Amino acid sequence: MFLTDYFVFSQPLYSITTGLIFLFVFNFLVTTIKRLFQLPPGPWGLPIIGYYPFLKDESYLQFDSLSKKYGPVYCLKLGQHDVVVICDWDHLKLAFADESLLAKPHELFFEGIIKYPSFAEMSGDDWRFHRRVSLQVLRDLGLGTSKMEEAIRREIKQFLPTIGQGKVDFFTKLLPSVSNNISILLFGHNFSYSDPYKIGLDENMDRVNQTFQFAGLSTFLPWLVKIATALGLFRVSVISKHVHAVEDLLQKEIDMHQSESRVNEIEDYIDGYLVEQKNRQNKDENDELFSMGVLRRNLTGFFAAGSDTVTSTLSWAMMYLIYNPEYQDKIRAEIADVIGFEREPVYTDRNRMPFTMAFLYETQRIGSVVAVNLLRRASRDTKIGKYNIPKDTIVIFNLWSIHRDPKIWIEPEKFDPNRYLSEDGSKAIKPPYLVPFSGGKRICLGEGLANVELFLYLVNILQKYQVRYDPSIKLSLEATFGVSRRPKHLPPLIFEKLPKF
Ligand code: HEM
Repeated sequence: MFLTDYFVFSQPLYSITTGLIFLFVFNFLVTTIKRLFQLPPGPWGLPIIGYYPFLKDESYLQFDSLSKKYGPVYCLKLGQHDVVVICDWDHLKLAFADESLLAKPHELFFEGIIKYPSFAEMSGDDWRFHRRVSLQVLRDLGLGTSKMEEAIRREIKQFLPTIGQGKVDFFTKLLPSVSNNISILLFGHNFSYSDPYKIGLDENMDRVNQTFQFAGLSTFLPWLVKIATALGLFRVSVISKHVHAVEDLLQKEIDMHQSESRVNEIEDYIDGYLVEQKNRQNKDENDELFSMGVLRRNLTGFFAAGSDTVTSTLSWAMMYLIYNPEYQDKIRAEIADVIGFEREPVYTDRNRMPFTMAFLYETQRIGSVVAVNLLRRASRDTKIGKYNIPKDTIVIFNLWSIHRDPKIWIEPEKFDPNRYLSEDGSKAIKPPYLVPFSGGKRICLGEGLANVELFLYLVNILQKYQVRYDPSIKLSLEATFGVSRRPKHLPPLIFEKLPKF
């Protein structure tokens, strides 16, 4: 019997096939009509997978160049999701203020590997509760106060002597110190750099971060990830191994907190979370929301969000300091005037160090370490300017485009801290469109901590060291992009002790 005979004779199969074709054509027509009449313009993609296969690693560059063709707000299809990309300040300002753009995609990062959302992946009231509790606990612990600053200063004291020896791979050296600042907040203590627990945590976090692109895949093509998981493709088992290793290590800290008898005494984020959990259980409230799984995921989220980003920004700072050694001289002149070479820098010194602040602003603009914000979802139909954004559309803020827009920055490709200085040079003015931490109600929760870290690490380093590199190495400003955008080729750095240190 021929296959065609089978089709002729098998009425059910014939009906199913016709039904599927009909569904496919219907879906195609609905999508096309919706796109033409409801959504902003944009490029077409392939059926089912949309524009996803055309996206490159440095997606922010592609998003930017698509905006030159389709306008500042445009739409593309990624998998089954309509995705609106916002690339200019006028529309981003409106998006920051729009409460219907605070939700997150329904899918989790690493769907299939991870069971619980962290609060960075939550929407609606769940997110609101967790964000409020997290902020409350972190503020009680001293975030934004001198208590937190003192802890960072102690950590920097541990870090500084470790860079004055030979040629330094700056990113690798700095990361454990920056993540120690997160450890203080979350666990109530930092670690020595040789502590095997901390080495394991940093290494596994780094491996998870390296596979961050996979998180996009799990949002846009979750069915593909399910197939890959079943067939063991895309190194899913390796990702899973590192994700679980991180969670196991974090669980050890949680177990230690639970075994210690610190009744209602909040010394760190884990304490704060456990107390909130207990209070809710006593009131018989929805405890699923404050489960151990969510706690582990929140801890992972804080490490991922708070370590790589600050380390990458400081790596860009080092890159521009060796590229333009005259900026080291200028910052050091401010150090000499305001702090001297004996006293330890404090965060309030920034108010009298305009060039240093301008240098940090410019580093944040040109580095744009979070080039694309974490994905948002429209929780109801809304409009940004003249553009419709229907419910459940995914929304991307391409922060990179804002930071390189020639309409708001003169010569945006040029690294120039002077652009922030007042006419008489006495003040550094941060424009509203410098948005490394995004904006609105879902703005980065760690902005305050990050700003203190950036200032204190930079000023402490330049107070003690001249930063150099081997001039036979050709410098390149190329970037690599995973969780954050960082220099691809930061050369090994030489930290030469200043005579007064
Ligand atoms: C230079 C350093 C940093 C940069 C550039 C940065 C940038 C960002 C950006 C752009 C977002 C996305 C906001 C949005 O969805 O629109 C974000 C979210 C977040 N960041 Fe940061 N961040 C930095 C450091 C930190 C630190 C140190 C912490 C930890 C305390 C942290 C914790 C978070 C959290 C928890 C979120 C999710 C907030 C939520 O969903 O409500 N970040 N960050």
